[in-house]
Amino acid sequence: MQDGAVARPLLFTPLPLRGVVARNRVVISPMVQYQARDGFVNDFHIVHLGSFARGGAGIVFTENAGVVPEGRVTEMDLGLWSEDHIEGLQRLTAFIHRQGALAGIQLTHSGRKGSMQSGPEGNGPLTPADLARGRRPWPVVGPTAEPVGPDWQVPRQLTPADIARLVDAWAQAARRADRAGFDVCEIHGAHGYLLASFLSPISNTRNDAWGGDRAGRMRFALEVARAVRAAWPANKPLFFRVSALDGAGGWDLEDTVVLAAELKASGVDVVDCSSGGLTGTATAAPIPRHPGFQVPYASAVRRRTAVATMAVGLILDGPQAEAILQEGHADLVAIGRQALYDPYWALHAAQALGCDPAFALWPAEIGWWLEKRSKILQPAPKAAK
Ligand SMILES: Cc1cc2nc3c(=O)[nH]c(=O)nc-3n(C[C@H](O)[C@H](O)[C@H](O)COP(=O)(O)O)c2cc1C
Repeated sequence: MQDGAVARPLLFTPLPLRGVVARNRVVISPMVQYQARDGFVNDFHIVHLGSFARGGAGIVFTENAGVVPEGRVTEMDLGLWSEDHIEGLQRLTAFIHRQGALAGIQLTHSGRKGSMQSGPEGNGPLTPADLARGRRPWPVVGPTAEPVGPDWQVPRQLTPADIARLVDAWAQAARRADRAGFDVCEIHGAHGYLLASFLSPISNTRNDAWGGDRAGRMRFALEVARAVRAAWPANKPLFFRVSALDGAGGWDLEDTVVLAAELKASGVDVVDCSSGGLTGTATAAPIPRHPGFQVPYASAVRRRTAVATMAVGLILDGPQAEAILQEGHADLVAIGRQALYDPYWALHAAQALGCDPAFALWPAEIGWWLEKRSKILQPAPKAAK
């Protein structure tokens, strides 16, 4: 390296994924905001997600978007079950692209955790007080008629014909996501929602071809992955979010490694390693929380299957994120709450890593001014005696 040149951290090294290139390896994790009506995107989403793109992230994910109306987690979530949803999302992806980021969408079916409380409402099953406030529950579905727990709705068991219809719904939603201008599509297979509830032997006690042994329980997830891969352009990357452990002692890391290898063979490019959520709130798990607590899952999947992984969970600053990449635990880092705290997380991480002294990564209309200011603030050289 020449004198004076600034070393480029891995975090800010562009990452090619099939036919697209993320400008860096910072991903904004899917985070639901309960601001949609009938699944439609609005100005809120453009400002909220747009600020992460302005803030320098490489990929900005939307929240979980329902592939069918009853596949939303709440009625305030985004959806992509109709052609009518495409136009608004085109405005969102165009804005994200103008800021230099890739736009990602997470496609989901909530399964037996559908029609639940939002985070601020408590993140559990709807209560009489929620109904009195105007929340309107809809019937939910699952691998069996077993509910998540006491007080949760009793689901209707999906039939093979229902499963086939839902696989198609996922594929149709992926086609619409492409037309809406998204670059990255993620299948939500974590947190106890429909696909995760089929994976775990605790929630899936079916004795047909979609239950039983691990291969049977993985079948629905793999059918969705293959159908989405076929519907999603070959030059665009496909991510799959797993709960590496279901948090209830049913599905474990060993199962995840087997699934990840199958997902890779089915055309999934990145396995996004989260955990928990099978028997309670969205991400609740009896898994001890500390910075980077889920990184070992991303690391094991990457090492044992050679599939690219995304690490997520209490990744707080640039040096921590850079160490995760340098040590080979993951290919991408997803930032959740720390990006809510600081939507310009990526640009601040670049400052912390010392790789953007001239504010060149910032939007030009800001960076020019910040560089001028930093020169003014530099301590004056000491006069020679
Ligand atoms: C407000 C909020 C909403 C979330 N919504 C989703 C979601 O829509 N889909 C999903 O897979 N995870 C969701 N999550 C989980 C995050 O994507 C992430 O995995 C989790 O917050 C851990 O990362 P963090 O410690 O950086 O926040 C949500 C988390 C938060 C805080």
